[in-house]
Amino acid sequence: MKLSLEGKKVLLGVTGGIAAYKIPELVRLLQKRGASVSVVLTENGKRFVSEYTLKILTSGRCFSDAFGDGIPHIDLARWADIIAIVPASYNTIGKIASGIADNLLTTIVAASKVPIMLFPAMNTAMYENPVNQKNLEYLKSIGYRIVAPGEGILACGEEGPGRMPDPEEILMFIQQGLGDNAFSGIKIIITTGGTEEPMDPVRVITNRSSGRMGVEIAKAFFYRGGDVLLLHGRMNVPVPSVIQSISTPDTETMEKALQKNIKDAHVLVMAAAVSDFVPTYSDKKIKRKNSGINIHLKPNRDLLATIAKKWKKGVVVGFTLDDDSVLLESAYEKMKTKHCDIMIANSIEAIGGEKTRGYIITKEGEEWFETTKDELAWMITEKVRQLKS
Ligand SMILES: Cc1cc2nc3c(=O)[nH]c(=O)nc-3n(C[C@H](O)[C@H](O)[C@H](O)COP(=O)(O)O)c2cc1C
Repeated sequence: MKLSLEGKKVLLGVTGGIAAYKIPELVRLLQKRGASVSVVLTENGKRFVSEYTLKILTSGRCFSDAFGDGIPHIDLARWADIIAIVPASYNTIGKIASGIADNLLTTIVAASKVPIMLFPAMNTAMYENPVNQKNLEYLKSIGYRIVAPGEGILACGEEGPGRMPDPEEILMFIQQGLGDNAFSGIKIIITTGGTEEPMDPVRVITNRSSGRMGVEIAKAFFYRGGDVLLLHGRMNVPVPSVIQSISTPDTETMEKALQKNIKDAHVLVMAAAVSDFVPTYSDKKIKRKNSGINIHLKPNRDLLATIAKKWKKGVVVGFTLDDDSVLLESAYEKMKTKHCDIMIANSIEAIGGEKTRGYIITKEGEEWFETTKDELAWMITEKVRQLKS
């Protein structure tokens, strides 16, 4: 199990909905991650996205004729590792739920034994129509994965549920659908980003953490079926909307959110760059003075040490960042005093960047890494999995 989708075969079913315009982008994203992609278009799907474009992007693997060469529905059903219907129209959902197989896509679905994901996307009234809701409930009950649409302003001008997720988000769900489900039923809380400690009503003390490491860890656990909650401070990278998250800008808010959510968690990953010092707070905006001002910084609460010590229920992953000369020694020391099962010791240049290097330390000893943050995130999920099994 790894981050790449090399060797995975994804069949995208595309039906007659406006959101079909997002499909060429999704094809590219899947291919970039290493997947082989075939597209099956319904006749009405062709009205919303160019068959020619999809043929070019998939080197000809775009199909719609149920009576073409070979036995198309059987060949394609056998070929796929997963089927994702994006967008899934009201009509096609109804047909699948009723056992109708009157075009290539619905016949492939009938003949398939692999996981099938549906991404319903339509006008809100159609989505909320009891017939559609009953169909979706039924399909869910027999093992179909239904990815609920988002809310927003729809192509028809109405506002409400019915919006298909964006290609990046669909990619995350498909990657999860192809995953090993190693963390199914496991709640993982991850902190990330830099905290902003208020000095006065308009100023804060913060640091250069981008929050990227925690986002990559959240994605990696999500891909492996985990129930992820991300508590984040100030971020320089977007938080994917498919990841459940809470904004916790300063230490106090982050601590409260941790205390509230930790009770039923199984894994705690503390990747946030929580300020080591906090300024004394002034209720009034500090006035500019030509002679300058002195800021008094007092030591901040150590969230990792205090929370992990009290919690003692599951796996704790701590992070530390230090100069290379003291990195390993300081990491071992912190691992002991802060009650961590796994410690990630990053060298200083990890802050803000896409790559990192350092040590991943467990009770068995340390392992050197020099890699991208998404790969490190994957390694962390593996270490946690080993500890839990
Ligand atoms: C402009 C336009 C936009 C449409 N958008 C959607 C849509 O977003 N979702 C949907 O379920 N149906 C939508 N429809 C209706 C479907 O295209 C129609 O039900 C069709 O029979 C679906 O066929 P298929 O499921 O075989 O692809 C739209 C129709 C039109 C004319």
